[in-house]
Amino acid sequence: MTPDLKQYWPLFIGGDWVDAADGERIAVENPATGQTISEIAAAAQADVDHAVAAARSAFESRVLQEMRPSLRAELMLEVAALLKTRADQIAMVECLDNGRNLVAARNEALAAARYFTYYAGAADKLEGRMIPLGGAYHDYTIPAPYGVSAQIVPWNFPLQIGARSIACALATANTVVMKSPELSPLSLYLLAEVLADAGVPPGTVNIISGFGHTAGAALAAHRDIDHIVFTGSVPTGRAILKAAAERIIPCVMELGGKSAGIIYADANVEQAVNSTAIGIFTHSGQVCSACSRLLVHRSLHDEVVAGLVAAAGERTAGPGMEGHEMPPLISSQQLAKVERYCQQAIKQGATAVCGGSSLPRDGHFFPPTILTGTTPDMAVAQEEIFGPVLAVIPFDTPEEAIALANGTDYGLVAGVYTRDLALAHWSADRLSAGQVFINEWFAGGVETPFGGTKRSGYGREKGQEALLNYVQTKNVAIRLDGAGGGRPGG
Ligand code: NAI
Ligand code: MG
Repeated sequence: MTPDLKQYWPLFIGGDWVDAADGERIAVENPATGQTISEIAAAAQADVDHAVAAARSAFESRVLQEMRPSLRAELMLEVAALLKTRADQIAMVECLDNGRNLVAARNEALAAARYFTYYAGAADKLEGRMIPLGGAYHDYTIPAPYGVSAQIVPWNFPLQIGARSIACALATANTVVMKSPELSPLSLYLLAEVLADAGVPPGTVNIISGFGHTAGAALAAHRDIDHIVFTGSVPTGRAILKAAAERIIPCVMELGGKSAGIIYADANVEQAVNSTAIGIFTHSGQVCSACSRLLVHRSLHDEVVAGLVAAAGERTAGPGMEGHEMPPLISSQQLAKVERYCQQAIKQGATAVCGGSSLPRDGHFFPPTILTGTTPDMAVAQEEIFGPVLAVIPFDTPEEAIALANGTDYGLVAGVYTRDLALAHWSADRLSAGQVFINEWFAGGVETPFGGTKRSGYGREKGQEALLNYVQTKNVAIRLDGAGGGRPGG
């Protein structure tokens, strides 16, 4: 069954669906076939102005701030319920637009719902403090929203990433302009429909799409935004930070990684191999927290590589709609990039024990690829590839493993496989990463804080920590007895 795909999606601004001011459109491609499946309006400066004005006016109206937080929570729970009801429809659209495996796409809709449930639970628990100053004073703090939050979302998991940022904004009474990724824009428009149906006040969440260098850049540089949340590449993050610096506004930056798993000599090899395969082959490696490097104790190298080749062989490439575990990469550019990295590594002396070149068929398919004989200085061991490509490097001592793991510009996540609890903690302390997985890649969930160190960015998403990025403390100090002549502050 093919979902009833709308042939054209306008922009969602102020609770209405509106065309782009200049009428520009972008074709939406199914990466499994290369065919155009729909069109979206391409926002440009005038549309960004329109969306930011809608969010500003909703913020100034104080509609979210005046609402009792428990009622805001109820609205968010309604969003979650509708997302669950529409999970099948969302999954099919995401599968056609983003290429995702159908079951994974359905789980993504449920994960989006889970973000609204989780942060709904926080909406009425954001409390300030009373600070004692002695009898003549009363002092308290307010966790105040920033205002208009500009959110720029990438194409790999648009719904989940978009949902977590919108949920945090609603819980904290910020309003939102979100830019949906031009390469997989549709699931966030289904979320826009859900927000409207749930009764989220018009203008509090606006969702537009458009190219990064036009709509994205215009949004990041807009004079009337107060806050930026960005997930994507380092160069784009850097450009956004420069724009934000002009107006001194805070940013949450999630900029990908080159994350390493470490398999120590005492590891449960079967568990480590299965977990590593999930870590690198999920969504064909288009995952910021993918396990794209494997550091394996030399004594286990051949056994682990053989296990990984077997795990790769169990995964077939094909349309996500047909349930294949290796869905297409998002675009022909992404496919060419992944292939280029592999060919370069092979020229430099690495061996592709499986995969290594794109599949000769329609769509942007790349097979599970394992590279041995890679050295830490190779580009495949340093740079984010965003494909199903694992660079394997042997090590001899734990100190060497940690140095290798930390030896890139990135520091998003890291993994450790060992039965030795002391070694696990020792490693977790020394790994430069925002999140460390012990004996299971991707362990954690909506509840666990996620974000990077070094060039992987800063700020945390998910978990309670994420909310700290959406509020700034306002202190209110009151002189109670009317005698106050003021005293110098500090
Ligand atoms: P990108 O970082 O350029 O795009 C991400 C989002 O930023 C999209 O919505 C895009 O429209 C927007 N954008 C692009 N240029 C912008 C600008 N100048 N100002 C404001 N917004 C802008 O990533 P791209 O080109 O799609 O992928 C390239 C590489 O980036 C991938 O191969 C991967 O290595 C990395 N990447 C990392 C992601 C992560 O989850 N951390 C997600 C997507 C890409
Ligand atoms: Mg698409």
